[in-house]
Amino acid sequence: MAQRETWTTRAGFIFAAVGSAVGLGNIWSFPFQTASNGGAAFLVVYLLAVFLIGFPTMLIEFVIGRRSKQNAVSAFEELGYGNWTIAGATGVLASFITLSFYSVVGGWVISYIVGSVTGGYLGNASGYFGGVSSGLIAVGAHALFIAITIGIVAFGVADGIERATKFMIPAILVLLVGLAAWGATLPGAAAGYSYYLSPDFSVIASNFSSIVPNAMGQAFFTLSLGFGVMIAYASYLGRDDSLPGDSAIIVILNTVVALLAGFAVFPILAATDTLTGSTGAGTAFIALAGAFGQVPAGQVIGFVFFVVLLFAALSSSISLLEAPTSYIVDSRDTDRRTVAVGIGAVAFVLGIAPAYGYVGLFNDFVFNIMLPIAVLLIALFAGWVANREAVDELGRGSTLGEGATTVWLWWVRIVVPIAVIVTLYLGVMNFGGNLLSGAYF
Ligand code: TRP
Repeated sequence: MAQRETWTTRAGFIFAAVGSAVGLGNIWSFPFQTASNGGAAFLVVYLLAVFLIGFPTMLIEFVIGRRSKQNAVSAFEELGYGNWTIAGATGVLASFITLSFYSVVGGWVISYIVGSVTGGYLGNASGYFGGVSSGLIAVGAHALFIAITIGIVAFGVADGIERATKFMIPAILVLLVGLAAWGATLPGAAAGYSYYLSPDFSVIASNFSSIVPNAMGQAFFTLSLGFGVMIAYASYLGRDDSLPGDSAIIVILNTVVALLAGFAVFPILAATDTLTGSTGAGTAFIALAGAFGQVPAGQVIGFVFFVVLLFAALSSSISLLEAPTSYIVDSRDTDRRTVAVGIGAVAFVLGIAPAYGYVGLFNDFVFNIMLPIAVLLIALFAGWVANREAVDELGRGSTLGEGATTVWLWWVRIVVPIAVIVTLYLGVMNFGGNLLSGAYF
C-alpha cells in the first residue's frame, strides 16, 4: 500500500477546510437567502444555527476523521462499527450528487466572468442568464469547471488541494473587503445595511417554519458538514493539534466571509431597488448582474465579484470531489489521478440534468433531505455509539477539560439530533410541497 498523504502544515489543513466551507453557499446563497427570508431576522437564526449546531457537528467529523485516518466510508469500519458504514456512504453519495450541480453553477460563474469582459450582461441581465444557464453553453461551462476541479484534486492533498486553497482563500478575503468598501460608497448603502442588520423579531415568529429549516440547511451546507468532506480532510492530519481550536478558526473565517459578502451585496441591491426580490437559483445572478449594469464602474466590479465567486466555488468543489476520491484511493489502492478523472467524469454526466434546468430540484433535494439525514446519522453515531472514543479524541491536543468534552457529548446526543429532526421534518414538507406543486418541472 502506498503511504497515505498528509497536510504539510496545520495552516495547510485550515486553509483547505476554510476553502471547502467558503463557497457559493457564502457568497451566492447566503446574501440572497437572507434577503428573501426577512433580512436581519434570518441572520440571527442563521448565526445561532452555525455556532450552536454547526460548530459541534464539525467536531464530530474531525474526531471521526482524525481517529480513523480513513475516508468517510471506511472510517466507520476502521473504528470497529461496520454497520455504520451506511452513514458515511450516504454522505459520500450526497457529496457526489452535490458536485454534479455545484459544478453547473460554477460553470455559470465562468460565463459571468466572460460576460464581465465582453459586457454581455450589461443592460440585459435576464436575457444573459437565460442564454448561459441551460443548454449547450451551460454544459460546456460545467465541463470546464469540473475539469479544473479534477486537475487540482489529481495533484493530491498537499500539492493540489493545499496549494490551491492557500492561494485562493487570502485572495477571496482581500477582494471581498475591497468590494464591501466599494459598496459603502453607493447611495443605497444605509438602506441596505439597515435591512441586513436590524432584526425584526416578529418576522421570525411569523415565518418560523421556513426560516428555521432554511437557516439550518444553510448552516450545514456552508460549513461543509454531513458529506464526509471534513472526515476526509481531518484524516490527513498527521499531528494532534487542538480540534476545537482549528474548528473555531474555520467556523469564524467562514462566517466572516459570508458577512462580508452581505456587506458587498446588500448596498448593491438597495441601490438598485432589488432588496427583497424573490430568490431562486437564478435570481441572484440576474439581480446582481442587473445591478452591475446600473452602478458606476459596474463592469469592473462585476468582474472582481465573479472572480471571487469562482475561487470560492473551486475551493469547495475540490472538497466535494475529494470525499468520493479518497474513498476509492484508500480502499482500492488505485492511482489518485485515474480515480479523480473517473469520478469527475461521472459527476459531469449526472450534471447534464441540472445543466438543462434542474438546478433547483437538485439543490432543494440536497438541502432539505440529504443534508439533514447525513448529519443526523453521524450525530447519532458519535453521541450514542462511539461516544467514549469520540470524547477521548476530542480531548487530544486540546486544553478542553472533562467538563467541556462531556457537555459536547450530551449536546451531540440530544440537542443536535432534535434540531436536525425538526429541520428534516420541515424540509420534507417543503420539498414535498414543491414537488407536488410542480415547481421544478
Ligand atoms: N460549503 C460549500 C459552500 O458553502 C459547499 C460544500 C463543499 C459542501 N463541500 C461540502 C456542502 C460538503 C456540504 C458538504 O458553497
